[in-house]
Formats: sequence, C-alpha cells, structure tokens
Amino acid sequence: METLLKENINWVGFIDWNIRDFHSYITPRGATYNSYLIQDEKTALIDAVKAPFADNLLRNIKGLTEFEKVDFVVCNHAEPDHSGGLPRVMETLPNAKLVCTEKCLKVLERQYDTSGWLTHIVKDGDSLSLGKHTLTFIETPLLHWPESMFTYVPEAKLLFSMDAFGQHYATSNRFDDEVDLSTVMEEAKIYYANILTPFGRRVAATLEKAKTLDIEMIAPSHGLIWRSHIGTILDAYHDWATCKPEPKVLVIYDTQWDSTGLMARAIIDGASQPGVEAILLHIRQSSLTRIATEVLDSAAVAIGSSNLNQGMMPMAGALLTYLKGLNPVGKAGFAFGSYGWGKGAPEAIDQWLRDMKWDVLRDPIKVKFRPNPEDLAMCREAGELLAKKAIEIHESSVSRID
Ligand code: FEO
Repeated sequence: METLLKENINWVGFIDWNIRDFHSYITPRGATYNSYLIQDEKTALIDAVKAPFADNLLRNIKGLTEFEKVDFVVCNHAEPDHSGGLPRVMETLPNAKLVCTEKCLKVLERQYDTSGWLTHIVKDGDSLSLGKHTLTFIETPLLHWPESMFTYVPEAKLLFSMDAFGQHYATSNRFDDEVDLSTVMEEAKIYYANILTPFGRRVAATLEKAKTLDIEMIAPSHGLIWRSHIGTILDAYHDWATCKPEPKVLVIYDTQWDSTGLMARAIIDGASQPGVEAILLHIRQSSLTRIATEVLDSAAVAIGSSNLNQGMMPMAGALLTYLKGLNPVGKAGFAFGSYGWGKGAPEAIDQWLRDMKWDVLRDPIKVKFRPNPEDLAMCREAGELLAKKAIEIHESSVSRID
C-alpha cells in the first residue's frame, strides 16, 4: 500500500495498529513508521521502518519499482524504529547506497553489521541530485538523537522532518486534513511532551532554520503528513519549545489509604478559580505519558505522595525520574503528602522540585495520618496560591512575548 504525496513521491511505510507501549510511551492510537520513495532518474528511499516490518516496506517498494532501481536509502535517524529494517532493506536493494552523516553511520555500526553496505556520507548543507529532485541535508543534532537530520526537497517544497512534527497515530489516512485536526494536534503534543521536551532550545533553533525554507508539505517519520495545517504545527512547536505556560494548575498524587488523596482534592478545590484550568491526576490511575503531557503547558504543579518506608510511593519516584529527564522548565509548585510514624515523601519530592529548578512556592505540606478540617483548609489555601501563581506566570509570559 502506498500513498502519493507529490508527483513521483510516495509514502511506503507501515501502520502499526496494535502497538500500545513505545519504550514506555503509551500509544493508545498505535503508531506509523513513515518511509517515502522518490522516483526520478535516480530513486531514493527516505528512511526505513522497525525491523519486524521491513518486508512490508519492501513489498510497498516492489509495488512501485524494481529493487535494482533503488539508488539511495537515506537514513535521517538511527533509532531502531526507523533503522531496524535497514539490514533487510540493504541486503535486498542490491544497488542502493546508504546516505547518512558520519555520525549516523557510527551509530548504525554499533547496532548492525554494516560491513557490506555501500555508503554515501553527507554533512549539513550537502545536496544530492536525483534528476528533477534534489535532496538537501540539514543536520538537526539532538533533535532528538545526536545524528538526527532533515532531508529537504526544494523542487517539491517538501521537508522530511524525521521525528519532529510526528505523532503516534495509526490511521488509514495519511494527511492532516483527512482526520480531525484536534486529534492530530493532541497526538503531536503528546509526542512533543514525551520525546522532545528536553531539547527546547534545539527545537527553537531548528524552527528558525525551517523559516528559511519554502515548505508546502512536512512529512515526518510518524503519523500524519502536514499539508493543510503547517502553520498550526509550527506555531504549536514554537510554544512547546519554551513550555509556554497556560493558566493551568496540575495536581498529581499517589496515596495508600486516601489521606494524600483528600489533601490532593482539597488543593484542587482551592486551585479551581475563574480563568484557571485545574486538573487532578492520580499517578497510578493515569500514565506517565499523560502526566508529562499535562505538565508541558501547566504553569503550576503540586506533586504529592504518602510516605512509604521513609520515602515516596514507587510510582511517584518513577514520575519524578521521568520528569527530571524531560526537564520541563519554568514551573512553580510544591510538594505534599501524609505520613504515619516514618517521614520522607514530601521532603524528597520537594528536593526533586528544587533539583528541577522549579519555583518552590512553599514548604512541603505534611499531614500526620488523616487530614483534619484545619489541614484541609491549609491545602485549599495552598491550591489558591497555585492558581494565583499560574495566572501570574501565564500573564508574565504573555507580556514577554508581546
Ligand atoms: Fe521515531 Fe527517535 O525515533
């Protein structure tokens, strides 16, 4: 199955309908691994697919041309969801040269036996003519691996953007205007939050580079291809690159016997103020993927856990480990939780918030066993503080942009 993007340029990738866990990123809508075939005087394949689906990719190529006629296989990114199929692809396409950067080849060599592969090494700014089409290579280091690269085809005004602007979204449609835009944008935001948040500065720099290109279509390695809403996704990336804070409060917690749950509900009550979106998430009833997505544009975040064995609940620890790696910037917040005879959870969370360089608004709220009415009143008051701070952070970010 293939789909025409532009004259002589087809999608030949694989739709992974059933994947639900992409290295811990939860994917309820599945995923796609997008590969593209450009047929000209020379023929080039742009990116491969995950190893188990290499034969599906090859069948799609076979539907368009003979294997002997493929001259180049471009590898924009060496992560196995795109490079895993390369060994099978390279052994099947007898005349194809692998086109990649030196850095990319070194990563591929550490993952596969590349000894029999023909290669054509490129660097930032290099071009390769296929005839009527030119491939121009734009290195995008750490977006999101060191060897990451875009390939741009000026004659088609087409940018192959690899993971950037992608979404984990399996659908029989291929273009952004063939599905509900809010769903594509939701998946694009989840993708950004869980893959690209640590690289905001790199994303911003890449967006500046992209401004210099004449683009009619962006074809990422995952999900829908952008042809009707390019401005929408570029604007969204601009906001996400800075974790642009919305007037939004997030309260995240884990609890054993609901004492910390009572505190969390009192905090969210206090935070539910006019003009503020307030969201409450139980860590084990949600997913790290969803929580990271909500954190991305929240201005203020409270994180709570009851005490367990002198520390926090295990999934609270997992969440903080995950968030620290993603490094969402510019948040304010505080820690909270209940304890019995041991202590440590709110204090440990407080330290994580400080390590992430968040603006810690107050000392951790600690309650012995069950919160009483005074404790709950204190939690509501702390929720009001979160709401006030969320509005302040949002307004100051808007005035900075103005
Ligand atoms: Fe889709 Fe970073 O691989």
